[in-house]
Amino acid sequence: MLVKNAKLRKKDGLYDITITGGKFGKIVPAGQGGADPETIDAAGKLVIPPYCDSHVHLDYAMTAGVPHHNLSGTLFEGIQIWADHKAQVPLTKEYMRENAIKTLELMRSYGVQHVRSHVDTGDENMLGVKTLLELKEEYKDKVDIQLVAFPQDGVYTYKKGAELLEEAVKLGCDCVGGIPHFEYTREYGVKSVEKTFELAEKYDRLIDIHCDEIDDEASRFLEVAATLAYESGLTDKVTASHTVAMHSYNNAYCMKLFNILKKSKINFAVCPHENTHLQGRADAYPKRRGVTRVKELLDAGLNVSFGQDSISDPWYPLGTGNMLWVLEFGLHVCQYMGYDEISNSLDLITENGAKTMHITDRYGIGEGKPADFLIIDAENDFEAVQYLKDVLYSVKNGKIIMKRDPAVVTLY
Ligand code: FE2
Repeated sequence: MLVKNAKLRKKDGLYDITITGGKFGKIVPAGQGGADPETIDAAGKLVIPPYCDSHVHLDYAMTAGVPHHNLSGTLFEGIQIWADHKAQVPLTKEYMRENAIKTLELMRSYGVQHVRSHVDTGDENMLGVKTLLELKEEYKDKVDIQLVAFPQDGVYTYKKGAELLEEAVKLGCDCVGGIPHFEYTREYGVKSVEKTFELAEKYDRLIDIHCDEIDDEASRFLEVAATLAYESGLTDKVTASHTVAMHSYNNAYCMKLFNILKKSKINFAVCPHENTHLQGRADAYPKRRGVTRVKELLDAGLNVSFGQDSISDPWYPLGTGNMLWVLEFGLHVCQYMGYDEISNSLDLITENGAKTMHITDRYGIGEGKPADFLIIDAENDFEAVQYLKDVLYSVKNGKIIMKRDPAVVTLY
């Protein structure tokens, strides 16, 4: 395959990209790529690595309203509804597969090729874990799925939570999760973070913890996770998701916290839609935005990536799988709107997502790497973000897996 006249991010001029055996070959100035029977003319449009959604829940997706809708709009009602769902409308493999496939196909249509999905481990039959492990295999030519064993109801708060978490890791989850802010006590929370690290080291897994997803300035499990990441040497294998309590921390504490964050080199997965919706629910006016300090984290050189988190589930009723929409919203709510910030912001749903997922060795447009890329209907990053430009092609391992014809609009 040959992609000719491609505009590459942060580079002047146009390029021809050669692809052989599913991998990128030489990338040469436009006109020098030779001829290939399978040629796509990018015609000066942007060619970028595929979108990454570094935080989503495929096992919950498309279940909003079952058995009832979330009326308070809080995280805690969402957790209760999911428990009610499991008790009142028992989950089946077919139901979960159908919902997850519908979600993955949506994501695929928007150019997402890398997904990190958390999966609830609070089930002795491991239905979610087994179903998503099967889908991970089935989808490997279309979407790379990474699974996080996620103890939704707690590691120590939920009966057998620790054993079930370990069971899910043994079955093949790529990462170990946690939810320390939901545990009954601070002590359980700290112990649960330690358990997450213990399992990750025992089974050689990555870590992604739902960390401090609460508007409580006293929720301080991030410092525990970052310190363990630093002291264990697991560093960038560790991701803290949400960290919304950081929005409410006092600045003096944050100043101290950032010391260990920088040393730890951990990643941050941030979900702007979800947390703008869920947080600030206990506030009168003024209401907190409830998203973590994205600008400050990025300015400190830390890795931040965005995720959709929920697509029509007990926690969040909307969602489409379109990461550009997540990005555009996130830029607003995080006030990350400087010209350079917007111009470089595609990083948050591409390169930075790959860093969070620890897949940079096989991600990106470079000779020898898997030929995974998108052609966007835009000439530069800023235009792509401003106009939420369509993905025209999604190519994985040198094969076209999605093609979109742009809509034709006639104004009278
Ligand atoms: Fe989540």
